Amino acid sequence: MRRPLVAGNWKMHGTRASVAELIEGLRCLALPGNIDVAVFPPCLFIPQVIDGLAGKSITVGAQNCAMQSQLGALTGEIAASQLADAGCSLVLVGHSERRLMLGEHDDLLCRKFAAAQVSGLVPLLCVGETLAQRDAGQALSVIKQQVGIVVERLGIDAFARAVLAYEPVWAIGSGLTASAQQAQDVHAAIRAQLAAENAAVAGTVRILYGGSVKAANAAELFGMPDIDGGLIGGASLNADEFGAICRAAGS
Ligand code: PGA
Repeated sequence: MRRPLVAGNWKMHGTRASVAELIEGLRCLALPGNIDVAVFPPCLFIPQVIDGLAGKSITVGAQNCAMQSQLGALTGEIAASQLADAGCSLVLVGHSERRLMLGEHDDLLCRKFAAAQVSGLVPLLCVGETLAQRDAGQALSVIKQQVGIVVERLGIDAFARAVLAYEPVWAIGSGLTASAQQAQDVHAAIRAQLAAENAAVAGTVRILYGGSVKAANAAELFGMPDIDGGLIGGASLNADEFGAICRAAGS
């Protein structure tokens, strides 16, 4: 049985004051004991969030890391080893906003994924198709390629210490959610792709769904057999809504 994970991706939101409020709201939540919960604040707020959530069973991750794990001359980047030193345990890799708006390509993503693992962080690899790709019937082939490149470069065993998230680009921040069945079909395809390499790894890796998850649709999505929780954007900025999503994952 895979333990569900609900992860909040705060993206480029928050001020010191609003983050303090959100921390307070998270501290007050009664979280189910049978799930894992994580938040991904903007880097600037990571120490504030780690300190603020001390004693609460919510882990903290980063939204990005450098492609090299070691310290060095790379202006503006933050090494996975620095994130680990700061107390992070996870890092997002390959979010569609970075793939599409910042031009992050597969080669770079593989290096970030590897750098995270070398530093002891768990990479959370995001994959997903655009609306044009889905309309052209290419959703599964696009996702297969996005997952496959990491398997090919880093080996299937890399997924023994990683999390995946299926996030259809057309569902992110749009209010459009994939139907539970649409999401399940993709999750099952990803798991089958991994199982062809190593059934044990495929059986244990958590595959989250992301894209306009709210308290109102979470239970149906999380009820599908291959959906092991969610990566939550907008709704994670409201502690009560996030708490309700966590409860849906725990029930
Ligand atoms: P959303 O974002 O929940 O606001 O759609 C999800 C994500 O991008 O991780």
